[in-house]
Amino acid sequence: MGVKLSVRIAGLTLKNPVMNASGTYDPVAYEPFVDPGQLGAVVLKSVTLEPREGNPPPRIHEVPCGLLNSIGIPSVGAKAFVEEKVPALKKYRDAVFIASVAGFTPSEYATVIEVLETAGDLIRAYEVNLSCPNLEKGGRSCALSDDCIREATRLAASKTNKPVIVKLAPDVTDIAAMGKAAVESGADALTVGNTYRAMAVDLRTRRPVFANVVAGYSGPAIKPLTLRAVYETVRAVDVPVIASGGVMTAEDALEYLLVGAKAVQVGTTNFVDPRAMLEVVRGIEKFLDENGIDDVNKFINSLVTQ
Ligand SMILES: Cc1cc2nc3c(=O)[nH]c(=O)nc-3n(C[C@H](O)[C@H](O)[C@H](O)COP(=O)(O)O)c2cc1C
Repeated sequence: MGVKLSVRIAGLTLKNPVMNASGTYDPVAYEPFVDPGQLGAVVLKSVTLEPREGNPPPRIHEVPCGLLNSIGIPSVGAKAFVEEKVPALKKYRDAVFIASVAGFTPSEYATVIEVLETAGDLIRAYEVNLSCPNLEKGGRSCALSDDCIREATRLAASKTNKPVIVKLAPDVTDIAAMGKAAVESGADALTVGNTYRAMAVDLRTRRPVFANVVAGYSGPAIKPLTLRAVYETVRAVDVPVIASGGVMTAEDALEYLLVGAKAVQVGTTNFVDPRAMLEVVRGIEKFLDENGIDDVNKFINSLVTQ
């Protein structure tokens, strides 16, 4: 097969358009299943400034067609991340690492990036996870407010020359407006989206399943919802959009590419099948080859609407 799979995102060349979603794949732990160098990029677990334990259990609850999680961003903290986690990644010479940055105030994203910049060239880009609760705005996620998106993006982009990818929440009233706010404030690319705010209750105890009541819904159920969000965002901005939501198979990934995503992230599926990401890469290649398309870039954004 002579299909060209490489895509360019904000100056980075990825060998294929498939990466993991932050928090769902650890390159060291999954080494027996997936060589991180075979992925387009590896997005690391979100890092906060200070060490954090995350939320009390339960943290995961399975529902039809997906998963609810209330993990709460456990993190070793930015300094320990640079000192302890980054050196363990150096052996993966072929991998493109994207650090995921979490913050509880807009300026905290910038401070985390400042610390991560000391890690040198191993980190090739930053994904700014705006779904963290914004403590200055009463715990509402930063991604729900265009003011917060603007401020967090502007401050984050001011601290680095590396590409800044802003990860938006998909369940907002106007995803295109949120995407534009991020791009106007310096985002080099966007990830659309994250989990959806949802909840589960226990009829037996009559209590919410999660201590925080509201949790994040991911998996196959969210794919049609995020597909719409990606479609609308692609048409509103002129930077690359990375899709994240319910990719289980190569067909799911291809649908996102068709509506204009330049790459896709695989999340919840990694818990079902740790090799799924490689299957998605192979399936994309096979589909393109069978359809006589020699370059994935010719397929991206080729949706026929009339
Ligand atoms: C267990 C779990 C942990 C996650 N941790 C993070 C995280 O640390 N940072 C982040 O930006 N997104 C996190 N996410 C969201 C995923 O990166 C992804 O955007 C979302 O789950 C939608 O994709 P999926 O349906 O393929 O899982 C997490 C999701 C799950 C299920």
